[in-house]
Amino acid sequence: MKLNYYIEDNYEDLSKKTASLIIEHVSQNPSGLFCFAGGDTPVRTLQLLAQASMNGEVDFSQASFIELDEWVGIDPENHGSCFSYLKRNFWEPTGIREEQIHIFNVLNKDLDGECKKANEWIERHGNISLALLGVGVNGHIGFNEPGTPFSSKAHITMLDEVTQAVGGKYFNDVSNMNREKGITLGLGQLLQADQLLIQASGPKKKEAVLKVLRGEITETWPVTAIWRHTRAHLLVDKEVVSS
Ligand code: F6R
Repeated sequence: MKLNYYIEDNYEDLSKKTASLIIEHVSQNPSGLFCFAGGDTPVRTLQLLAQASMNGEVDFSQASFIELDEWVGIDPENHGSCFSYLKRNFWEPTGIREEQIHIFNVLNKDLDGECKKANEWIERHGNISLALLGVGVNGHIGFNEPGTPFSSKAHITMLDEVTQAVGGKYFNDVSNMNREKGITLGLGQLLQADQLLIQASGPKKKEAVLKVLRGEITETWPVTAIWRHTRAHLLVDKEVVSS
């Protein structure tokens, strides 16, 4: 168990370091399956990757993608959905084709079927080649909420109150919006990724990062599952650790 741990001076440097690790990985694994989180943390990294792609420094044309998680029942075209986030920040500017991407259809009544399709997409590609994840204030990764077994596959989950409350920041209009339920790839699948990158930025992530740095491995803090991975990278900015 080895953890590659990086403390970068600021958010911009954190994003640059992450993007460079991803570019290096893609150059060696151009036809891999990639899974990028939504949320505030990876925005700049995704922009840098899209820019690098436009400059011809990285080629995603043979890669495949799978959506990490999504809010159940919320229209994918809603500005705050993970789908529209990834489309806006990465897939569209990078020119990724529809057939390269697998997403959860969260308006489908058969959500178990959606989990099955996601599991099959991963199996068909052998494994996730690289996963880029953020961490929640409560230590979740993807929508693997506290208490999720480390062996889980794609599943539907009742979202923690913290996740529901924090999630409001992604949406323009939160009135009449139900954010109780999510769908997510499972920790087991993320831990099997050839390369696992977890980013954390800002003081709110301190508690979750400290749990990892203390070497705890507990389902109560899903991010601590990172210790079960053999090639994981944890990238933080100074604000996380110095506050
Ligand atoms: C989003 C996701 C979440 C976020 C986490 C951190 O697709 O999977 O696990 O990565 O909640 O969110 P931010 O980056 O907004 O602090």
